Amino acid sequence: MTTVTQHDISAEIKRIEDDYHRAGLEETQPRLDYPPYRSSLLRHPTKVLHHADPEAVELGAPCFGERDVDPLESDLTIAHGGTPIGERMVVTGRITDGHGRPVRRQLVEIWQANAGGRYTHKRDQHPAPLDPNFTGAGRCLTDDDGTYRFTTIKPGPYPWRNHHNAWRPAHIHFSLFGTDFTQRMITQMYFPGDPLFAFDPIYQSITDQKARDRLVAAYDHDLTTHEWATGYRWDIVLTGGRETPMES
Ligand SMILES: [Fe+2]
Repeated sequence: MTTVTQHDISAEIKRIEDDYHRAGLEETQPRLDYPPYRSSLLRHPTKVLHHADPEAVELGAPCFGERDVDPLESDLTIAHGGTPIGERMVVTGRITDGHGRPVRRQLVEIWQANAGGRYTHKRDQHPAPLDPNFTGAGRCLTDDDGTYRFTTIKPGPYPWRNHHNAWRPAHIHFSLFGTDFTQRMITQMYFPGDPLFAFDPIYQSITDQKARDRLVAAYDHDLTTHEWATGYRWDIVLTGGRETPMES
């Protein structure tokens, strides 16, 4: 079996980027088939979609009520007996439509690796430590202004098996539930200036740089608190020309 190197992947990314620029395309969502991201080929339907009865789907789908979500679930640093290792941070932002109108009472769920880049998951067995004080999952509801807010630990980058020496930039996965499960949207938030952006075929599967930039949080010193936590701000726009890229 031949080893696919970072050099091979970077060359393929470059070829696709050049084609994109030559064609003058406006592509603001991730490509479904993006060969450098090898499993992208398996991650979307390959047959014609069937319409489903939304009410029938809802019978077997998860649901939630406002009272199901405890405000403490938005703090990922207090779920266990001790304090997790790593940089404590607050991440907050607004969820709006394309006109800036808030999306209220929205269930926002996040999951992420710990500071060492390790997920609490049986398939993540790379040699970075688990943190007994950090599970890496939290949720909250947006308020009347469409604002969500989490306290967590800054995740580390981690290796994956897309190709030899493949590493993901640090990121937090976000899920927005909608008013029911069939509206659920999933995306990832990144951190400014990550040196791994250029090497990551998942980030690069969005070919438009302006759209990629919408996935990167901004460091906000006003949100940073003295001797406690750094602050990052990341807004999510669901529709219109400044729409946040989502995973299909
Ligand atoms: Fe991840």
